[in-house]
This record gives sequence, C-alpha cells and structure tokens, in this order.
Amino acid sequence: MLTVVGVGPAGLQLMTPLAKEAVSRADALVGGARHLAQFPDFSGERCALGANIAEVLAWIEARSAQNVVVLASGDPLFYGIGTRLLAHFGRDNVQVIPGVSAVQYLCARAGVDMNDMWLTSSHGRAVNFDVLATHQKVAMVTDKRCGPKTIAAELVARGKGHRWMIVGENLAQDDERIHWLRVSAVVNDYEMNTVVILDER
Ligand SMILES: C[S@@+](CC[C@H](N)C(=O)[O-])C[C@H]1O[C@@H](n2cnc3c(N)ncnc32)[C@H](O)[C@@H]1O
Repeated sequence: MLTVVGVGPAGLQLMTPLAKEAVSRADALVGGARHLAQFPDFSGERCALGANIAEVLAWIEARSAQNVVVLASGDPLFYGIGTRLLAHFGRDNVQVIPGVSAVQYLCARAGVDMNDMWLTSSHGRAVNFDVLATHQKVAMVTDKRCGPKTIAAELVARGKGHRWMIVGENLAQDDERIHWLRVSAVVNDYEMNTVVILDER
C-alpha cells in the first residue's frame, strides 16, 4: 500500500492522529530531509526526496508489496507531491491523508478568512501575474526564485489596488515570523515563506 501523508507546515503537533498512525505502521518512509528528520526513531527504510522524482518513483514501485508512506509538506494535494503520485500510480492505488497547508496555517495565525481567496503557487512554476492581479484576495506558496519581493513588484507594476501582503516565514517553526507589509514596501528577501495578498487590512 502506498500512502501520502500531509505533515503540515512543520512540527509533529500539526499532523493529524491518522497521519501519525500511518507513519507508525510504515515499512518505508519517503520525504524531504526536513520531514524525514522529524522521525528519528523510525527504524524502516528511508528514501530522501528532492529533485530526484523519477528515481524516487522507481524506488517506491520496487516496494509495491510494502507499506510505503510518503511525507508531503502541508497538504499533499495543494501544490504537493500527492498530485504526482496520483498521476503516476493511479487514484485507486494511493491513499491520501490530508494535512494543514501552509496557506491554511498562515490564514489562521493572521486571522484572515479564506472565503473567496484565490490560491496559487510560484514554487517551481511560472505565475501569470496578469491573471493573479485580477483577484483581490490571493494566497500563494512561493520559492526563492519568485518570492514576496518579486510578487510585490509585479503587483505594483499592474496597479490594481493590492495594498497588503502578509508574509509568513518559517511557519510553525521556532523562528516563525509573520509580517504585515504594504505591498509597495516589500523589498526584502525572506526565508521559506507563504504569502497572502489583500486589498484591505
Ligand atoms: C511544494 S510547496 C508545498 C505546499 C504544501 N503542499 C502546502 O500545502 O503547504 C512548498 C512551499 O510551501 C510553502 N511552505 C511549506 N512549509 C512552509 C512553512 N513552514 N513556512 C512557510 N511556508 C511554507 C513554501 O512556500 C514552500 O516553498
């Protein structure tokens, strides 16, 4: 059985009991270094997930008779590895255990509801900023290439009235920081982050 487990933004406390139970029953664990490190006592096989997706898919395939659990950041089906696993192995062959996405967590911490929010990602993908700018309330996961500063510059260039950006940095970690910033004043670089864009505070 192949299971993909959402581990939340960070820390075991944001994993559901069902997610923890799946890990405890696993023969083999697959995940990014940050996520594998959360299970130092796991005694089964481990496989590090990075840019080596094809290799990891083959590794999982070779263990089809075992209980393999893939650890996914946040929620597996929100711009996560879950989508790739479903496409490769088929819906009937992958169990998905949901997790708290970085976006959900940031909204909760900032006290912003998710009603009518447009959700997207710049993580490893090109963003259509003309489309993004048509939405007044946006949340997105990012990466180093296209983070808060780039996103803010694209919004300022389009002048559609996006006034506020909330940058959630290192969410759920000891060094978590949540910044409320004027879009026009976002000029710095941030560590691992998720952003929410609003017209009103
Ligand atoms: C491949 S996406 C995965 C998103 C994930 N599936 C989710 O539901 O949150 C990775 C991006 O999620 C965001 N992210 C994940 N964990 C985070 C955290 N603890 N703090 C801030 N952003 C985080 C960052 O933008 C990171 O580059």
